[in-house]
Amino acid sequence: MPNIVVVHNRKGGAGKTTMSIHIADGLSKSGQKVLLIDGDSQGNCALGLGLNFGTDTEDWLMRGRWHPHAISPTFDLLASGPSEEVWWESVTLPLLAKQSRWITAYEWVIIDTAPGDSLFNRAVIQWSSKVIIPANLQFYSAAGVINLLKSVPRERVLGIVPNFYDLRTKRTLEVLENIKAQFPMMLSPRPIRQCVDLERASEAGQSIWDWNPHATAADDYYDLIEWMVSSYGEN
Ligand SMILES: Nc1ncnc2c1ncn2[C@@H]1O[C@H](COP(=O)(O)OP(=O)(O)O)[C@@H](O)[C@H]1O
Ligand SMILES: [Mg+2]
Repeated sequence: MPNIVVVHNRKGGAGKTTMSIHIADGLSKSGQKVLLIDGDSQGNCALGLGLNFGTDTEDWLMRGRWHPHAISPTFDLLASGPSEEVWWESVTLPLLAKQSRWITAYEWVIIDTAPGDSLFNRAVIQWSSKVIIPANLQFYSAAGVINLLKSVPRERVLGIVPNFYDLRTKRTLEVLENIKAQFPMMLSPRPIRQCVDLERASEAGQSIWDWNPHATAADDYYDLIEWMVSSYGEN
C-alpha cells in the first residue's frame, strides 16, 4: 500500500488545498508516483491545477468508476466539484478499504479535505498512515487544533505546519510561540511564510515551482517535503 497522507484542519482557509497540491506536486517532481484525492466538493484542487471541477472522487467511491486526471506522468488527480448528492456523508472505512485496489500503483496518496467534521474526513483519517495539519497563525488556530486532536490519535499526526508566517508582524511570532508551547514536538521545523505568489500560482493553475521558483514559498515547500519524507521514515 502507498503512504497515505491526509491534509486536514477543521478550519477553512488554513491552507489545506494549497498544501495538498504542493506536497503532491513536489513529491511527483522528485520522481515519486503520486495520487492527489480532492475530498472537498469545492473542487479547488482541480482549479489550482488548471482544470475544471470533476466528479472523479465521488465516482470512485460511490460508483467504483476510476478515471483520474493525469497532471504529469507521475501525478494523478481525483478531482471533485459540486454534487447533487451529499456523498461525503456515506464514506466509511470499509468502503475505502473496498476501493483501495485502485491506489496500489502509487507510492504516495495525498488527500485534501473539506473544513469541518464529516464522515469522509473521519474515515480518511482512519484510513491514512499520517495526518498533516496546516495551521494559520491567528488566535483561534490553537483552539481549532486542540479540537481536531480530540478525534485524531497523536501518533497519527506527522506534524502541525504553521502557515501564513509573516516575519514583519510581532503578532505572528506570539501566536507561533503559543502553538509551540501547546503542542511541543508536534510542529514542523519551518513554517510556510506568507507569500502572495502562492495565490497567483493557483490562479494560473500552476504550482509555485512552475509559477515562480524564486518565491519564498518555493523554498518553504521544498523544505516541508524534505522534512515530511524524512520524518515519515522515522515514524
Ligand atoms: N503561505 C501562504 N501565503 C499566502 N497565501 C496563502 C498561503 N497559503 C495559502 N494561501 C492562500 O490562502 C487562501 C486559502 O488557502 P487554501 O489552501 O484554499 O485553504 P483551505 O483549503 O484550508 O481552505 C488561498 O487563496 C491561498 O492561495
Ligand atoms: Mg480547501
